[in-house]
Amino acid sequence: MDTKLIVIDRQHIDPSEFTEASRILQDGGLVAFPTETVYGLGGNALDAGASAKIYAAKGRPSDNPLIVHISKVSDIEELAYDIPDIAYALADRFWPGPMTMILKKKDIVPKATTGGLDTVAIRLPSDEIARTLISESGVFIAAPSANSSGRPSPTCARHVYEDLNGKIDMIIDGGDCEIGLESSIIDLTGDEPLILRPGFITKEDFAEVVRQVEYDRAVQNLKPDVNIIPKAPGMKYKHYAPKGNITIVKGDKSKVTAYINQMLEDKRASDGSRKYAVMCAEENVPCYRAENIYSVGKEKDAKSITSSLFRVLRQLDEDGVDIIYSEEFAATDKKDAIMNRLYKAAGYNIVEV
Ligand code: TXA
Ligand code: MG
Repeated sequence: MDTKLIVIDRQHIDPSEFTEASRILQDGGLVAFPTETVYGLGGNALDAGASAKIYAAKGRPSDNPLIVHISKVSDIEELAYDIPDIAYALADRFWPGPMTMILKKKDIVPKATTGGLDTVAIRLPSDEIARTLISESGVFIAAPSANSSGRPSPTCARHVYEDLNGKIDMIIDGGDCEIGLESSIIDLTGDEPLILRPGFITKEDFAEVVRQVEYDRAVQNLKPDVNIIPKAPGMKYKHYAPKGNITIVKGDKSKVTAYINQMLEDKRASDGSRKYAVMCAEENVPCYRAENIYSVGKEKDAKSITSSLFRVLRQLDEDGVDIIYSEEFAATDKKDAIMNRLYKAAGYNIVEV
């Protein structure tokens, strides 16, 4: 299949540029598009055949449900029933934006889209290109992140192209994603709201709207406990890991830098044929004696880190790095989301110094 690439300038969005993409979606095809979090791989959420194509293109396990993207709050009533008041309060505060709500699904949403579940994940993105695509096509768009299953989520069109060229009908290039980490997921189908995936909207942000909110137990634990099954099926899969081996080093800054420098020196002496690298905050770059240093953003500027993390993880692969030491990025209020992704990328390989 030929994958068509189109570029849309977000400063001058013209709805007529969405005609072909809309037709593809209406005909059951697949279009990758930007959102404020990561690029999504979109298909008609109410068309079981389109959902099946999404799973096939990504190589995604079929029990891992898709998020349905809408363009106005009242759309939730077409997709879900028994909607609690709290859903409207959350929508009021966080939509359009990087929040996904889990609600009880109506019959029109096929189980092919929800991985066999009776619930549906719904998100109203803030990205103008995403919203124009949804409203112009008149299609509720099921969209997982537009990466091959297991790879870091794509934060620019080139990442999508690397993973999905030849497997989907179209890629809409709208530039770099503003946030760079997937949405926060909150489940509203139980007695109390539960956060199933940490994201840019933090637990503290949610607590301003809902009295009681906790993380799903499976997310709370640093190391996955095989006895606790995450409520978001996707959280159980290995994810984001580059080919190289990442070790996260936690502790006081001076101890962390000393430990990493020592490890690099020892390793280089014992095996000079491998490629070593450090992942750190921009402020700390001068502290390292390493040939390959990857800055992940400014320690105190959460967005600089969230928006570069996945790009850096992909870059490590491109550069053929074998061994990576990473700092912990715990100085911002987005640390739960950032470290959730980084721990997974490192396969929970963590050293405390
Ligand atoms: O920011 C995002 O959420 C991006 C953009 C494209 O919107 N999408 C995204 O989709 O990250 P995906 O498929 O990569 O992740 C969806 C997550 C998975 O962990 C999945 O298991 C969970 O949402 N999920 C979807 N429907 C669910 C449901 N009914 N119940 C529990 N978890 C659900
Ligand atoms: Mg994903």
